[in-house]
Amino acid sequence: MNPELLVRELRDFRLEQRRQSTLFDDSSDASDARAATTTTQLETLEVEGRAIPLITNEFWSRRQRQSHSLHELSYRACFKGELPRFFIERLTKPGDVVLDPFMGRGTTCLEAALLGRVPFGNDVNPLSRILLEPRLQPPSLDETRGRLDSIGLERVFDDARAGSHESRPGDEDLEVFFHPGTLAQLRVLQERLVREGADPIDRWLRMVATNRLTGHSPGFFSVRTMPPNQAVRVESQRRLNEKHGLEPPLRDVREIIQRKSASLLRDHDAKTRSLFDAVRDRARFLTSDARDLQGVDDRSVRLVVTSPPFVDIVDYAGDNWLRCWFNGIDAEEASNSITTPRRIEAWQEFVTEVFRELERCLVPGGWIVFEVGEVRNGSIRLEEHVVPAAIDAGLEVVAIAVHSQEFTKTANCWGVANNAKGTNSNRLVILRRGA
Ligand SMILES: C[S@@+](CC[C@H](N)C(=O)[O-])C[C@H]1O[C@@H](n2cnc3c(N)ncnc32)[C@H](O)[C@@H]1O
Repeated sequence: MNPELLVRELRDFRLEQRRQSTLFDDSSDASDARAATTTTQLETLEVEGRAIPLITNEFWSRRQRQSHSLHELSYRACFKGELPRFFIERLTKPGDVVLDPFMGRGTTCLEAALLGRVPFGNDVNPLSRILLEPRLQPPSLDETRGRLDSIGLERVFDDARAGSHESRPGDEDLEVFFHPGTLAQLRVLQERLVREGADPIDRWLRMVATNRLTGHSPGFFSVRTMPPNQAVRVESQRRLNEKHGLEPPLRDVREIIQRKSASLLRDHDAKTRSLFDAVRDRARFLTSDARDLQGVDDRSVRLVVTSPPFVDIVDYAGDNWLRCWFNGIDAEEASNSITTPRRIEAWQEFVTEVFRELERCLVPGGWIVFEVGEVRNGSIRLEEHVVPAAIDAGLEVVAIAVHSQEFTKTANCWGVANNAKGTNSNRLVILRRGA
């Protein structure tokens, strides 16, 4: 596709077209009917003397559970599977390489594999590979059940239920979240799963356990915490426990893992298995700084779909310390390597260096879709800083697409029902390497 065609397609796009190309769920519903009436807004953004088309539309559905079930892992600041799918379907063909240099939970990579494209992924946080790779080689539910039965969790759970569990010195912070009997089960799991050379079934169980550590329902190992993609800090949780009289309940770790496995595997079938088998050997995953992607060859990538760390808004270290603890990762080291520029100028410099590296990796005519979200209530328009960074790195700026959708926010946590209308937007800067 050439840039003019893409701009035309974005401009003329109507959401109802998507129903034909939806892979996993073709049913229509009322919200889609409403969405079909949304109109495109066209503006021009002037940056450094260039006029860039800025197209606002609803490019994908607001319905929940639209994406493949394998996406359903929480991760801070992740995007929905529909976002990469929209661009992968239009800008690549099966067998092409799709890269995400800030892959997080791996949304772009998983979606690429589901569409028969070869996923390349990178994130400086080692948790990303732990979360993504097992989902590209899922075991069956019989295999997860068999493995869970063989690990010996049942005995530890039964002992704890009979009251024979003990707090361990040094566990005070962990026990703000977990019952000592739950912790004992987690330690058995850790010993078995957190090691080099684990097979795909063990790696799957480790991924699911990592995801189930904390959350706000009995489907998690912890006492009720903030929703699972919020920061989990010892002091704030201690206060919540005191205020609401909460004590971490004993959880059946084996059952929780099996239930989440069933839910993740809901849409996984022979078709997705064969798509994954076809691309797995060419897939590549790194734990590097996005400015230095050794391991990705020059001119090998057709499309990048990514969203970088934003200016100072997400505390990845605060979010991830328990996940790091479970996985034997030094949380401080992991958080120090994560880029969180405090000033917009430093962020722009960082993004320029990332673009230089991506330009090296792209095939001529290859694309970058760079998602920058809303920062500080829209008072900083990050796209205005992305455009000069892209120009500095020798990339062509094709358009800015703003995916905008109305939503009703229900914050029902901690007994506060708060229904508010709002707008969700993804701001996408679309760039291209010259042909
Ligand atoms: C906005 S999140 C990406 C979320 C992702 N799109 C998803 O759907 O899960 C940004 C990611 O950038 C990673 N990161 C931060 N600094 C980095 C760097 N210098 N190099 C590579 N990754 C980095 C963080 O660990 C985080 O996972």
